[in-house]
Amino acid sequence: MPSLLRSVSLSSSLLLLASACVIEEHDEEGEDGPLVAEVSSEQCNAGLRWVGGDEESTRMHPGGDCIGCHASRGEGPRYLVAGTVFEMLDEPDDCFGLEGVTVEITDAEGRTWSLPTNDAGNFFLAAQDGPVAMPYRAAVVAEGVRAEMATPQSTGSCATCHTATGAQGAPGRIIAP
Ligand code: HEC
Ligand code: HEC
Repeated sequence: MPSLLRSVSLSSSLLLLASACVIEEHDEEGEDGPLVAEVSSEQCNAGLRWVGGDEESTRMHPGGDCIGCHASRGEGPRYLVAGTVFEMLDEPDDCFGLEGVTVEITDAEGRTWSLPTNDAGNFFLAAQDGPVAMPYRAAVVAEGVRAEMATPQSTGSCATCHTATGAQGAPGRIIAP
C-alpha cells in the first residue's frame, strides 16, 4: 500500500509539473507570436502591430485609452497617467510606437515622474506610485531633446486627446521630439 500511495502522489505531481509547463509555454508563445504581428511599414511605422485583443500585457493596445478601457471593463491595472509615444502624428491604433523615450510628468504640487516607453511605445504610472495632483504638465524627452506640452492637463489618459486624428485641439499622437 505505501508504495502504491507513493506512486499515485508521484504521478499526480508529475501531472502538475507537466501542466505548469504547458501554461508557461503557452504564455511565451502568446507573448512572441500571436499577440504581435509583423506588418508593412505603410500599415505601422514600426512594422509591428498588436493583435492580441485584450490579452493582458504592458504592450497591449498601443495608442488606446488604457485608463478609460480598464475603468469601463473593471479589469486591468489602475493607472494615473498612461499613453503611447509614436513616430508619426497619424499612427493608427494598435501600431507599435517608440521604445526608449521618456515621458516626464510634473504635477500641480511639483512632484515629478519619469516614465520610460516600452517596446510598444507604451508608458504608464501605476496608482500606487501616485497620487498625481491635477493639473499636470507633460514633456517628452528623446536623445536629450525635450518637447513640452504647453497646456497643463487634468486627464491622465493621453490618448483621449492624442488620437490618430487629434481630439480636443491635440495635433495627433504624442511623438518624440
Ligand atoms: C479596449 C480595452 C483596453 C485598452 C485600450 C487597454 N487595455 Fe489593458 N487590459 C484590458 C483588459 C480587459 C485587461 C484584463 C485582461 C485579463 O485579465 O485577461 C487588461 C489588462 C492589462 C494589463 C495586465 C495587468 C495584469 O494583471 O497583469 C496591463 C499591464 C495592461 N492592461 C496595460 C495596458 C496599457 C499600458 C494600455 C494602453 C496603452 C492598455 N492596457 C489598454 C483592456 C484594455
Ligand atoms: C485634454 C487633452 C489632452 C490630454 C489629456 C493630453 N494632451 Fe498633450 N496636447 C494637447 C494639446 C491640445 C496639445 C497642443 C497644444 C499644447 O502644446 O498645449 C498637446 C501637445 C502635447 C505635446 C507637445 C507636442 C509638440 O511637439 O508641440 C506633448 C509632448 C504632449 N501633448 C504630451 C502629452 C502627454 C504625455 C499626455 C499624457 C500624460 C498628454 N499630452 C495629454 C492635448 C492633450
